[in-house]
Amino acid sequence: MSKNILLLPGDGIGTEIMAEVEAIIAWMNAAGIADFATDKGLVGGAAYDAHKVSISEEDMAKATAADAILFGAVGGPKWADVPYEHRPEAGLLRLRKDLDLFANLRPAICYPALADASSLKREVVEGLDILIVRELTGGTYFGSPKEIVTLENGQKRAVDTQVYTTFEIERIVRVAFELARTRNNKVFSAEKHNVMRSGVLWKEVVTRVHAEEYADVGLEHILADNCAMQLVRRPKQFDVIVTDNLFGDILSDAAAMLTGSLGMLPSASLGAPDATTGSRKALYEPVHGSAPDITGKGVANPIAMIGSLAMALRYSFGMIEAAEKLDGAIATTLASGLRTGDIAARASPRSARRRWAPRCSRP
Ligand code: NAI
Ligand code: MG
Repeated sequence: MSKNILLLPGDGIGTEIMAEVEAIIAWMNAAGIADFATDKGLVGGAAYDAHKVSISEEDMAKATAADAILFGAVGGPKWADVPYEHRPEAGLLRLRKDLDLFANLRPAICYPALADASSLKREVVEGLDILIVRELTGGTYFGSPKEIVTLENGQKRAVDTQVYTTFEIERIVRVAFELARTRNNKVFSAEKHNVMRSGVLWKEVVTRVHAEEYADVGLEHILADNCAMQLVRRPKQFDVIVTDNLFGDILSDAAAMLTGSLGMLPSASLGAPDATTGSRKALYEPVHGSAPDITGKGVANPIAMIGSLAMALRYSFGMIEAAEKLDGAIATTLASGLRTGDIAARASPRSARRRWAPRCSRP
């Protein structure tokens, strides 16, 4: 029976990189490797232009019914002044929240052909292959109270609240341990139990789940600030890192810069497996945005989007061999010297210095 993939290209280069992935899906179907039925929807600014919302109820229904969602990118200056609740990003946040996509997987792989493009020295990053598992629907970004109040003395006080329950921690660490078993069997759990109560609970739950269910997997607890330092010092010591929403946001961005370019980074956001079928809701997207500065020029790097399709093959469809072949095709293409503009100048250290120096100072 064919599997349903909902394509949500979004805005800007989202539509350009999605076209590349559509071509791969069509090829896979034609070659008999897969049997995918694709449908398309609007999200972000594109949905606002058509329906005055960041995602329509009809497309939400399609997303809920799909076996997997491929998401391009949303946003751009055109929608800078739309009402806050309909801003392009709201569509993505609604998908994550309504589908309960609590597990965000961000691999950071440094291809040998691009090792000189990393922020660090070649020997530190070459062959790097780590996976950050970030809790995506809890913690500081969602805890209540969340407010800014004006005090009697005229000062203002801002409050964000970090909340985690045993259930939320258990389900994310299980994802991390399961994934570690398919990789190098080592999990680092990053929190700050030394200063945060949520960190104390986090460490306690991880320790228990490990002892009861995953004693075969290596486990190390690490303070999140030390984890950040180790990521730029000796990143290859890591395999899987599991952490909360806030620390995961920061650590995964830091890890991203070890790999060379924003245009290279895929991600997966997964829900819980269904108790009877074992299938799970899932959305796959590149880490980068809609890149208005290069939209329409035909120069967008499609690798992050293609890597996101490879993650869908792996995590939604159990097509491990096909996923490995697609990842392998990315490595082979890079090794052959073929490049989009964003990574072309980084092929050799000398040209990298000459042509990329101005962009290195970009904040
Ligand atoms: P961005 O990721 O769109 O672009 C940053 C820089 O990286 C730009 O110079 C861009 O040209 C380059 N770049 C990004 N992806 C590339 C690719 N595949 N190939 C070649 N170069 C690439 O981030 P920016 O400029 O801060 O945001 C632009 C818009 O995207 C904003 O409206 C922002 O809100 C939105 N955004 C959306 C995200 C999403 O849909 N998940 C994530 C991040 C930003
Ligand atoms: Mg971020």
